[in-house]
Formats: sequence, C-alpha cells, structure tokens
Amino acid sequence: MNGQQFYTAFARLYDRVARLPGVSRVRRRVARALAPAPGDTVVDFGCGTGGNHDAVREQVGPEGTYLGVDYASGVLRIARDRAAGPRTAFLRGDATRPPVCRADAACATFLVGMLADPAGAVRAWARLVGPGGRLALLNLERSPARVAAPLNPLFRLAVRLGSPPGARSDEPAVERLERRVRAAHGQLRRLSTATVADRGALGFYRLTAGTVRPESEW
Ligand SMILES: C[S@@+](CC[C@H](N)C(=O)[O-])C[C@H]1O[C@@H](n2cnc3c(N)ncnc32)[C@H](O)[C@@H]1O
Repeated sequence: MNGQQFYTAFARLYDRVARLPGVSRVRRRVARALAPAPGDTVVDFGCGTGGNHDAVREQVGPEGTYLGVDYASGVLRIARDRAAGPRTAFLRGDATRPPVCRADAACATFLVGMLADPAGAVRAWARLVGPGGRLALLNLERSPARVAAPLNPLFRLAVRLGSPPGARSDEPAVERLERRVRAAHGQLRRLSTATVADRGALGFYRLTAGTVRPESEW
C-alpha cells in the first residue's frame, strides 16, 4: 500500500485525530507564525482533510485564497465536503512539484517526514512564494525534554504504526522521520530569515516559519 492508498483508506480515522482540540490549537499557532497578510494566497501542501483551512482563513480573511494540495483522493473528498467557498480550493497533486504557479505563502504540517527529498521540496516552495514570501513547517519528533522521555517510546510506536506499509524500510520509521524533518527545517532556515523557531507540546512539535530571501543569497 503506498501513501496515497494509505491516506485514502484511513481518511476518516485520520480526520478525527487531525481535529482534536489540542491539534486545532497548534494549527492556529502555525497560521499565526506563517502570518500571511489579509488577501494573500496561501498553499497548504499535503493538506489532508483540510485541518488547516479555518486557521489559515482567519489570517487571510474573505479576500484571501486558500489552496490545499494533496495526492490522496480520500482525504480531499472530506476536505471538499467541509470547507467550500469561492476562494477555497483543494487540488490533487504532488506537493514536491507544486501544481500552482504563484502564491504569497505556503505551509506544510506533518508532511515533510513523508518526503524522500524534503530539502528539495522546501526549495521548490521557496521558489513558488519568491523573495519576501512566507513559509511555515510543523512536524512531530521525539522530545528532547527530560519530562517527556517516558513518552518517546510511545511516539516511536505511533510513528511506526502510522507509516504507510509501502514506505517501510531498513531505517526505523522514527529515525527516518526525524532525519527528514531536520533536513526540511534546516533548509527553511537557510533559505529564509527565520522568524519563528519553536518547540511545543512538551517538545514534541517543531515549528519553523520564515520570510524567503532572494535566491542569490541561498
Ligand atoms: C500526516 S498527513 C497531514 C495532513 C495535514 N497536513 C494535517 O495537518 O492534518 C500527510 C498528508 O500528506 C499527504 N502527502 C504525502 N506525500 C505527499 C505528496 N508528495 N504530495 C501531496 N500530498 C502528499 C498525504 O496524502 C496526507 O494527506
């Protein structure tokens, strides 16, 4: 089963988790860190069931545009049922090859750990929004906090069970996830003036947001 089939098969279950109150709070935190201006166009890569839509919409207002991009048809069906409007669209496509040609800002929550070349994807998103454009990434990792240490084995198990079977490899799922998350967030810090670099939820999430620098400075 590949990632598209996995997220289509488990779309309803994923949607429940994606909308837990604690997760919704973090989504608002991401949208505030992204800080698009009212009226901006924001692309949400790997948008899933559209969990970020309302938080992004709060920032861009009725004149702004929200574009969700995901490669799994099952999650997109739920997203389209939930969030509709003249300036909201959900597109089926590959986040690593953006199917849109311009945007003011882009975010990706819980996505980059699934990408084979996360740094390359961040570079493509930086090109899409251009100099002065905004990018934000949110991901989970094991926590470095002492108080959270007992929860890390549970996190490891959850990552293993939550990985599409076709994506399993010799590298343990949690190490692969963290390697990719580090690569993506590091790339965002290199290509932008990072304005937010945060850990939260006892250190389990990493949030990075920044303003893209001119390509000549990358
Ligand atoms: C863990 S879910 C996160 C969904 C959503 N961002 C959220 O915060 O709830 C990862 C999503 O990324 C999508 N995805 C993974 N790789 C993708 C790719 N290369 N292009 C587009 N979507 C992708 C999956 O289909 C899934 O919906």
